[in-house]
Amino acid sequence: MNDTPENRDQDRLIREIKRTRWQQKGGGEEYQFYAYKNDPVTHALGPNVLDAGAGTGRFTIPLREKGFHAVGIDISPEMLAQGVKHSAHREAPFSCLIGDIERLPFPDAAFDSVVSITVLRHFPRWRDIFREYLRVTRPAGRIIFDMGSGDQRAFLARQGWKSKPNSAAADPLAFEAAITKAKLRQLAAEHNLRIVLTTPYDFFHVNDLLRYALGPDYDGLESQLASTMNTQGALALCEAVTRGIFPYLSPALTSSWLIVLEKSAQHEEDTSGASVSYSPTGDPKQDLLEVLRLRAGNRVDEITADVNQLLRDPDARHFYDFFCAHILARLPLESLCWEAKE
Ligand SMILES: C[S@@+](CC[C@H](N)C(=O)[O-])C[C@H]1O[C@@H](n2cnc3c(N)ncnc32)[C@H](O)[C@@H]1O
Repeated sequence: MNDTPENRDQDRLIREIKRTRWQQKGGGEEYQFYAYKNDPVTHALGPNVLDAGAGTGRFTIPLREKGFHAVGIDISPEMLAQGVKHSAHREAPFSCLIGDIERLPFPDAAFDSVVSITVLRHFPRWRDIFREYLRVTRPAGRIIFDMGSGDQRAFLARQGWKSKPNSAAADPLAFEAAITKAKLRQLAAEHNLRIVLTTPYDFFHVNDLLRYALGPDYDGLESQLASTMNTQGALALCEAVTRGIFPYLSPALTSSWLIVLEKSAQHEEDTSGASVSYSPTGDPKQDLLEVLRLRAGNRVDEITADVNQLLRDPDARHFYDFFCAHILARLPLESLCWEAKE
């Protein structure tokens, strides 16, 4: 975003809109539905972790339960209050303070990791806040955040499908920032950061690729998923796939992606997930396996053995069959390993 007076006004407007959104009474209640997701938490280095824009403590609380000294900061007392209320009887209640992530009230290198989920992408000038996160992270510490997937937006545009506006001017309320993997590599190089992990994130929730691929069936998906996914076996399978398979697939698959960067003294060239060429067989399961084979190399046997083991559970198998028939079969297969060029 260029630093013109017009852009500055627009930036102020968006920040105001987004800020007000989270101050409202009951703000954060909906977050309890997606409560306590663990994936960003598993990548944190400790002991001291800052959850920036912590909201209801969705990540601060599991971090604390894992033994980290985690503290949440947020500008909305309403969101923080929800977290305090919901965690009062948990093993590790929410620890938090009111504050602004644009000017963090902490000294340089105060934290081993900063976790910040569904936050940076609300800010047109998210790179400025990212620099603030870098400032409070110690050398060799980590920044774990999610961001809109520029690769998915480019992929949708290529298919002639409409995606979120890339410019804040078009629709300030709907604005969400995005970055492509190619641009992320540049950002990492610029700040001497090691890319530890990039992975498609939140496949089943607000996914524009699924929205277009499934058409009218997308609307019923969330309730169908709630019934097929809500068993221990199916959840274990989802977790194994998220950890074992998704990191080898393209961020074009999801509207967001999870990014883990390390403040490394030495920048290493990231070679993960380079574009690979393969000829689709027309059988989605075969294609998925082929992409994994090309990207994960020898690890593919280990990954498929883990998944096959979990598929012995009838609930996991039921979910898998539902997923293959109703979702995988309808995805544009190039999206599995597609990457935007710029
Ligand atoms: C989408 S919520 C995400 C909450 C939490 N990270 C989660 O994933 O459940 C965005 C949060 O960012 C907070 N926020 C927005 N602007 C902020 C600012 N300038 N400083 C601190 N927090 C801010 C909001 O109050 C809100 O709680």
